[in-house]
Amino acid sequence: MRIIDGKKTAADFKAEIRARAVAFEKARGRKVGLAVIKAGDDPASAIYVRNKIKACEECNIASFSYYFDDKVDESALIELVSALNDDKNVDGILVQLPLPRGIDERRVLSAIAPEKDADGFHAVNAGKLFLGERTGSVACTPRGIIELIKSTGVDICGKHAVVVGRSNIVGKPVAALLLQNDATVTVCHSKTRNLGEITRTADILVAAVGKKKFITADMVKRGAVVIDVGMNRDDEGLFGDVDFESVKDVAEYITPVPGGVGPMTIAMLLLNTVDGACA
Ligand code: GUN
Repeated sequence: MRIIDGKKTAADFKAEIRARAVAFEKARGRKVGLAVIKAGDDPASAIYVRNKIKACEECNIASFSYYFDDKVDESALIELVSALNDDKNVDGILVQLPLPRGIDERRVLSAIAPEKDADGFHAVNAGKLFLGERTGSVACTPRGIIELIKSTGVDICGKHAVVVGRSNIVGKPVAALLLQNDATVTVCHSKTRNLGEITRTADILVAAVGKKKFITADMVKRGAVVIDVGMNRDDEGLFGDVDFESVKDVAEYITPVPGGVGPMTIAMLLLNTVDGACA
């Protein structure tokens, strides 16, 4: 078994992003800019947003943060997004999810100009991904997952990739990207029957279910590449969706939690922002 080092891969990407952001500032007389909007008091979101802003600093990207409590109304968020769409110093806009209850996430995300959609969640960019058009931004976690698989040297083409989870931010877009890379893709979810039977046929297994240690060794084929997207926090700490201790003896490559997919998500956010600025 070999551990896929997301921290190291993310650091390599960030060095390149920083060089591009420094060159951008020299050429254009301003920094690449990312606006970050957070509403409500989700504790995990607070950690993610803090880490994203810190990563901007490391990469010479200006960050503009906007915090709201959970009483904020949808129209205030949409108005802010519209103003940021017109702001010449802002190249990327990120609305941290989840938003407080009662706010229609789709409406807020749809208000972002597609060319400033640093997260790749806008319907136009999600649609471009499914059509195989390469001009849109791609969701950060899925983009990072593909880079981590490629970092192993394992060829995705022709492999059976099984994605467990069908969310808009991970499961669906990572399935589309794996397909674009010529994998045979199966998407499983909470209603899937005989899940273990299917996951045991995976050459590449992506776990994005949001349940601590959900994928156990008996569900994994010997020699598989296992990507753990889980970020499950409880009193005992932070855990992935994969039971790392048992699965590591079966998998050929496996991402740890923390230090696997998480750092790559942030690096890809910065990459989308710099790509947007340079477009
Ligand atoms: N919530 C969980 N993951 C993400 C992400 O990648 N981007 C945003 N905006 N919110 C999230």
